[in-house]
Amino acid sequence: MSNYKIAVLPGDGIGPDVVKEAVQLLEEIGNQYNHQFEFVYGKIGGVAVDEAGTPLPEKTVEICKESDAVLLGAVGGPKWDNESPELKPETGLLGIRKALQLYANLRPVTLFSSLIHSSPLKREVVLDTDILIVRELTGGIYFGSPRERRVGEKGVEVIDTLFYTEAEMERIIRKGFELAQTRKRKLTSVDKANVLESSRLWREVANRVSCDYPDVALTHMLVDNAAMQLIRNPRQFDVIVTENMFGDILSDEASMLTGSLGMLPSASLGVEGPGLYEPIHGSAPDIAGKDVANPLATILSAALLLRHSLGLSEEAYAVEKAVEQALEQGFRTHDIGGEWERVLSTTQMGEVVRGNLKAPIIS
Ligand code: NAD
Ligand code: IPM
Ligand code: MN
Repeated sequence: MSNYKIAVLPGDGIGPDVVKEAVQLLEEIGNQYNHQFEFVYGKIGGVAVDEAGTPLPEKTVEICKESDAVLLGAVGGPKWDNESPELKPETGLLGIRKALQLYANLRPVTLFSSLIHSSPLKREVVLDTDILIVRELTGGIYFGSPRERRVGEKGVEVIDTLFYTEAEMERIIRKGFELAQTRKRKLTSVDKANVLESSRLWREVANRVSCDYPDVALTHMLVDNAAMQLIRNPRQFDVIVTENMFGDILSDEASMLTGSLGMLPSASLGVEGPGLYEPIHGSAPDIAGKDVANPLATILSAALLLRHSLGLSEEAYAVEKAVEQALEQGFRTHDIGGEWERVLSTTQMGEVVRGNLKAPIIS
């Protein structure tokens, strides 16, 4: 029997609901494959502000650092929207990413074929969508300083700083190339080199690094065009590598190729230490507490956790298969349900996926 310690940070809004299903799923994996998972819970986001006066208590960072991997729900909500920056739930999320040096955020955008009609786009457009967005996660405008609001001669002025070092760019771009080598060997580097100095350096670095990966075809695309191309012809993409904010925006957009934001998982990886796994969606205040959220993004994040942090690829595959099977059986949550008849609650969808793990259909 192998033992693993998983830090669990449910967070706010629908976070606890979807994380609960992912934890129960991991427990089921433990039963079936003879692994012992120890779940250690920590506070992050608004709940941590309310209970500990900070969105990222030191204790939470400690729990994460002592774990093999971190599973996170979501943070934020209207209750904390007007807090000062140091008391905002989102600051806690950025803080844990930085504390664990999770510079590489992998956001797979894979269409399950039975969801082809759930996407608002035409069937022939989304067919076979299989993209990996590799988002830089610990730099750029999210973390640059100075960041301030002040009163100048002409009134209120604000500053956000987009700062990157060449080394930060190089490591994420290399990650993009390496991941492309494991896939279709096509890397699209997305930037705004027609305007931004940071993007001009990004492009130079990508071109230089590409010499080390002659088997990967590198193309550059401006971010505004990339946003359009994702909708026009998503099949042209294999791996997309981009900086922090562009990756944030493009991945929410790309999620609709798969039917719903509630379907997209993510893995955030650093140089060493635990990886962090979370759905790309937020705390969804509009549906919080209603047991209607789609738990599949978080369940699929648990699969990424098994694969990337614990090296359990067979188990990860079993989870992905159980999800695929639930969708093929016609089960839906409301976000992918449309006019569907078999719309399940969060809890019911979790149960169905666990049930499929217990009794997989041999195909
Ligand atoms: P959101 O992702 O929370 O929700 C956007 C829309 O998608 C909503 O209509 C919501 O109901 C729906 N949705 C999201 N996840 C879903 C799921 N699993 N199943 C079904 N529907 C789902 O984005 P928002 O409304 O812009 O932000 C709400 C709060 O969440 C904000 O405070 C924001 O800062 C925070 N947020 C946190 C994270 C994170 O923790 N990683 C990510 C994004 C936003
Ligand atoms: C995400 C979220 C976060 C981000 C916010 C909540 C800080 O949108 O994980 O995609 O912008 O990275
Ligand atoms: Mn986002």
